[in-house]
Amino acid sequence: MRILVVGSGGREHTLVWKLSKSKQVDKLFAAPGNAGIASMCKCMPIKVDDLNGLADFAEKQKIDLTVVGPELPLTLGIVDQFESRGLRIFGPSRKASEIEGSKAFAKEFMKKYHIPTASYKIFENYEEAVEYVRDNDVPLAIKADGLAAGKGAMICLNSKESLKALDSMMVRKVFGAAGSKVIIESILEGEEVSVMAFTDGKTLVPMVSAQDHKRIYDDGLGPNTGGMGAFAPTKVVNDRMMKAIVNQILEPTVEGLRQEGRLFKGILYAGLMVTEIGPKVIEFNCRFGDPETQAVIPLLKNDLAEIFLSIIEEELDLEDIEWREESAVCVVLASEGYPEKPVTGVKIDGLKNVRKENCYLFHAGTTRLKNGQLITSGGRVLGIVATHRELQGAIKRAYSAIKRVSFKGMQYRKDIGQVVGGVKSSFF
Ligand code: AMP
Ligand code: GLY
Repeated sequence: MRILVVGSGGREHTLVWKLSKSKQVDKLFAAPGNAGIASMCKCMPIKVDDLNGLADFAEKQKIDLTVVGPELPLTLGIVDQFESRGLRIFGPSRKASEIEGSKAFAKEFMKKYHIPTASYKIFENYEEAVEYVRDNDVPLAIKADGLAAGKGAMICLNSKESLKALDSMMVRKVFGAAGSKVIIESILEGEEVSVMAFTDGKTLVPMVSAQDHKRIYDDGLGPNTGGMGAFAPTKVVNDRMMKAIVNQILEPTVEGLRQEGRLFKGILYAGLMVTEIGPKVIEFNCRFGDPETQAVIPLLKNDLAEIFLSIIEEELDLEDIEWREESAVCVVLASEGYPEKPVTGVKIDGLKNVRKENCYLFHAGTTRLKNGQLITSGGRVLGIVATHRELQGAIKRAYSAIKRVSFKGMQYRKDIGQVVGGVKSSFF
């Protein structure tokens, strides 16, 4: 089979790596990819939102299966477009992807189907939102409705901070049109976990649980990022909790979407708060998480291409999905200035030595110059992933490998793998 992977992050490097081990796969392509992916397969300079360009390439190259990493092409309808041209593709349709594409849609959907989540109000009018937060001088989560690369939510401890968040989203429009509608939510307290699941719209198989470290600084401080690291599995999700997540959240979501005429085939990702009274949804994503994928997929025993095919054929019930009894940790190395203004174009050294450390190295924002030099080209640059039968062993291994890598301004969290709870303001 000839496979095209769409995307350019650490998540896509992980998918390319895993697919390269599949017996089903003869040739892999990526678009647009990164320097790490380019060392494994041919990368095409086609942007992820150039749906026509991607479909033309898939047709011309006789691609048997396209796998979509990021949310943008999914919410733009890449799956619908490929399918209308008779091209096989893995991922949810545009209508099903709205569960991530619009937080307002996701909240209304959860209310309708009694899926546990934080209470909320939706505002399109700035003055009304201002009045609401003035009257509610309590901690609130304020979120842009549309896509904002994981950075569109602000945790505000009082009305002063809430007003700042509303000003940045609705007046200064720092997230563009995504912020013309905002969701104001009550704060959920507990442990935050990520559970991704394979689903063909009927059968749902959860992956091992994970925890993501979203804030830029240690102890969960500072602004949100796309994710500074992850580990899997997490003890917070024991067997009982996983059953509750599947029964109360994941299965009713897949069933509700089916009833709404939005059959969801792909990866359903639930960002959850495990509270004292059970799991509640923070957000849904319509795709693999980044960096959760870098930690979770190395633990998967199965052939990933076979799973994708059985989801497309709606035969996931026939798959027996198995996981290694190990822990995995992914530590993200980010550029100076990330997440606000990452400095890029910086030389990266020492990667050859990482291989000696028994770790996986997944590239994100990297580019190779014509002279062979590797440079940074994005906010999140590299993910170092280590596995071990004990979580502590994986943490130790990953941090030992990081000592080998260097680029000017490199920043990373020192506490990946440790659980830090508590409500922390997005303002500092
Ligand atoms: P979101 O973009 O909705 O995933 O939110 C980004 C991050 O903000 C989440 O990963 C949480 O850490 C935090 N967050 C969002 N909503 C809430 C909430 N209602 N209560 C507590 N934390 C939240
Ligand atoms: N790690 C969070 C996300 O993928 O959205």
